[in-house]
Amino acid sequence: MERIRLNVNGQDYEVDVKPNWTLLKVLREVLGLRGTKCGCSSGDCGTCKVLVDGEAVKSCTILARRAQGKRIVTIEGLSQDGSLHPLQEAFIATGAVQCGFCTPGMIIAAKALLDKNPNPTREEIRAALDDNLCRCTGYVKIIQAVELAAARLRGEVKKIPVPQAGEDGQIVGRRLPLRDAVAKVTGRTVYVGDMRLPGMLYGRILFSPVAHGRIKRIDVSRAQSLPGVRAVVTYQDVPPVAYNSALRFKGHDIPRDEYILTDTVRYVGDRVAAVAADDPETAERALRLIEVEYEELPAVFDPEEALRPGAPEVHEGGNVVKKLEAAAGDVEKALDGADYVFTDRIKLPIVTHVALEPHASLAEFDATAGKLTVWSANQNIFATRIILSEIFGLPVNKVRVIKPPVGGGFGGKLEAVLEPVAALLSMKTGRPVLVEMNRREVMVSTRTRHSAVYYLRTGVKKDGTIVGQDITAYFNTGAYATSALNVTGAMIDKAFRLYRIPDLRVTAYSVYTNCPVGGAMRGYGSPQLVAAREIHLNKIARKLGLDPVEFRRRNLVRPGDINPRFGTSLGNCRVLDCLEKGAQRFNWEEKARQPKGEGRFRRGVGVAAGNHGNGTFGVHVDMTTVALKMNEDGTVTMFTGTQDLGQGGTSMMCMIVAQVLGLSPEQVEVVEADTELTPWDLGTYASRGVWVAGNAALKAARSIRRQLLEVAASVLGVKEEELELGGGFAYCRHCPDKKVPLGDIVAAAQLSKEGGREIKAYESFASVAGPNSYGVHLAEVEVDTETGRVKVLRYVAAHDVGRAINPMYVEGQIEGGIQMGLGYGLTEELIVDPASGKVLNAGLKGYRVFRAKDMPEIEVLLIEEGEPPGPFGAKSIGEASTVPVAPAVVNAVADALGVDFDELPVTPERILAKLRGRP
Ligand code: FES
Ligand code: FES
Repeated sequence: MERIRLNVNGQDYEVDVKPNWTLLKVLREVLGLRGTKCGCSSGDCGTCKVLVDGEAVKSCTILARRAQGKRIVTIEGLSQDGSLHPLQEAFIATGAVQCGFCTPGMIIAAKALLDKNPNPTREEIRAALDDNLCRCTGYVKIIQAVELAAARLRGEVKKIPVPQAGEDGQIVGRRLPLRDAVAKVTGRTVYVGDMRLPGMLYGRILFSPVAHGRIKRIDVSRAQSLPGVRAVVTYQDVPPVAYNSALRFKGHDIPRDEYILTDTVRYVGDRVAAVAADDPETAERALRLIEVEYEELPAVFDPEEALRPGAPEVHEGGNVVKKLEAAAGDVEKALDGADYVFTDRIKLPIVTHVALEPHASLAEFDATAGKLTVWSANQNIFATRIILSEIFGLPVNKVRVIKPPVGGGFGGKLEAVLEPVAALLSMKTGRPVLVEMNRREVMVSTRTRHSAVYYLRTGVKKDGTIVGQDITAYFNTGAYATSALNVTGAMIDKAFRLYRIPDLRVTAYSVYTNCPVGGAMRGYGSPQLVAAREIHLNKIARKLGLDPVEFRRRNLVRPGDINPRFGTSLGNCRVLDCLEKGAQRFNWEEKARQPKGEGRFRRGVGVAAGNHGNGTFGVHVDMTTVALKMNEDGTVTMFTGTQDLGQGGTSMMCMIVAQVLGLSPEQVEVVEADTELTPWDLGTYASRGVWVAGNAALKAARSIRRQLLEVAASVLGVKEEELELGGGFAYCRHCPDKKVPLGDIVAAAQLSKEGGREIKAYESFASVAGPNSYGVHLAEVEVDTETGRVKVLRYVAAHDVGRAINPMYVEGQIEGGIQMGLGYGLTEELIVDPASGKVLNAGLKGYRVFRAKDMPEIEVLLIEEGEPPGPFGAKSIGEASTVPVAPAVVNAVADALGVDFDELPVTPERILAKLRGRP
């Protein structure tokens, strides 16, 4: 240890550090300034940025002792005298904050820019933020926020206008900030990795370096004897209970093929052992002292190869997890009668979520009480509770799972991956244990989007009418089944809801391989289906000489159309409106005719339609419960098991409750996602937030409203029908002076002489329909034929959202979805070495997500035609937003070059190979 002096946020500190400690470690662990986040530790994400003598510096890349004598400013030091910095205000006002994990680093980077350049161009802002990743916002609102703050700092804007609820009492439809935005912009949000409990230990996991093998010998003695190590566990220490990390509810019928730690590893990255130690460095050292000898087994990495006779078996009993098939009409007859039949094989990659917050779980087992408490960045706390209760044989009420704020999920935190490990280590040590993954581990050893191979056969009439289609897909679930059945089932369902194809068959195989594990990821099967199908349809349009917009116009579903599979209505599906309005905004007619160019740079345009669901209706019951409690000052406390991941789920619910009760959203406080305190919920997935949780909030609020009016009527001596709620009062519609504050109504109810009562509601809402949300995306690109690089020049996204409860949140979901989808189309792929099974590009250097400079200008159009029975007509957007992106942009590249693609992502290498005529 050496003693160094640091000046942080204007204060001098003397601290003892080890020579290899980074500034980030010292800020977070020694000074407790955990507003500065760690998204990668490798200098690739920017979440750890702080100002060092006015420069934005990635604090994970510099040693603390090198910062001596310099002025360091962290996010905690940005607000002055209790007032937010204009950048912080602007981030709140423009909706530049979602999960908030990137926010401190973004604001710091923006501050460094504006301090030097008070009037930056948009391109200069993009450049300054280019090494700060955000996975939620698509950078659109972040850039707007920086522009707004710059204008404020230059004095051109007097005050940053933070939107408020209207005086007219209208809340739904307004662009109100997230309820927790202030905490996020000031670095006060405490994510799991920021939590510290007395006596807490640090857990690390040892992962398999071989793709398939049996452990012949494992020796943990050297690790165990390392000072500071408190426990080392292997497969010999885990309960012999197989589970499925994607369990959704008690009794969910899915394959249970996984253990906490295994003696038979099935992919490079499988969990072999775990360590708990006094500090992360000791835990890391201990991992390296564990000796493991493997008997290597043959492995298979391709789903089609895994189905061939004699292929290595990943699990006993064969590699098909399940074959699912659904059909409407007579496909073969339809194809026989078609004027043309087109076929394609399209291959889609493994991709990963890249939520900026790495996975983390903190577990504390109280042996005296026999009670396990787990704090986890988790999208399904009630299912995780069941999994933990079954593995450890604990009563359900002795397991408590709490979800602190989550730094982005996108499906990657839906499954219980770390929680059982953290729980086991806590049970072994009797102390709280925090297990965090590094970025590489998150990418390899949590969950991914299933890679897939699609075979499509489509029958078309001469006029461009699709008459029949046969789709077969092979989904690579990797080493464990997890969500395989749900994802393929959901994918099949969507196939029947986008085009009018009376004769349609979809077959899907979920296949085990020795690849990283597939699981839930934003879109849940829809991005794979829509990418393959929309690329295929574009090729057909070109071969028929039809304009791709016109081709879609002839075939897309219309409002009230019937799902040919079930004979049920598709609801108010407005995809045609999306197509027409999107094409008009894009100026498609003109753009599609523009010359592609003949030189090095070629331009092209592409279009794609897409759809995704609203909840799990039709698959299993889709229910949640919301509890509301009125307080004596007229405020409300809401209890919900819904897990807000930063997308604004609970803020949206507050808006609904406030709208019904005539309050402002800030008057609704939320107790969120704690299995001990909040009612049951099915989890934050399947785009069920607004559709199910929003409806439950609406139902509970209406119940409260009825009770308030009933008591107010007796207090005021008027009929209930004459009363209205607004501005925190119940008042008589015809004589507004006759009014009573809501708090007085609550007190009157509590102290009523007829026997007191609490004004409260505990309302369950079970979904009664499952319509889809739709979108049409249009992209313009420029392709460099010498380098293969693609620049996305312009992007228009038109979405059928029913009704936007908060247009700012809805746009934010769409803009973020586009960033993720562009990566799916052009840059993102986890590359698995076909010889060793190792992921060759784990980490943010090798795995390329779209950064601020890569993003195009985005225009979002919202089609708000209402979708009963959504709350106020609203339906989902979080997943639908990402579905049409990849095919839209790939179709644009194909248009620019006049070539067809059959494998994503369309990287520069693949483009150059196509141009040079290589397969
Ligand atoms: S944590 Fe420092 S750049 Fe990612
Ligand atoms: S708000 Fe940027 S990563 Fe979530």
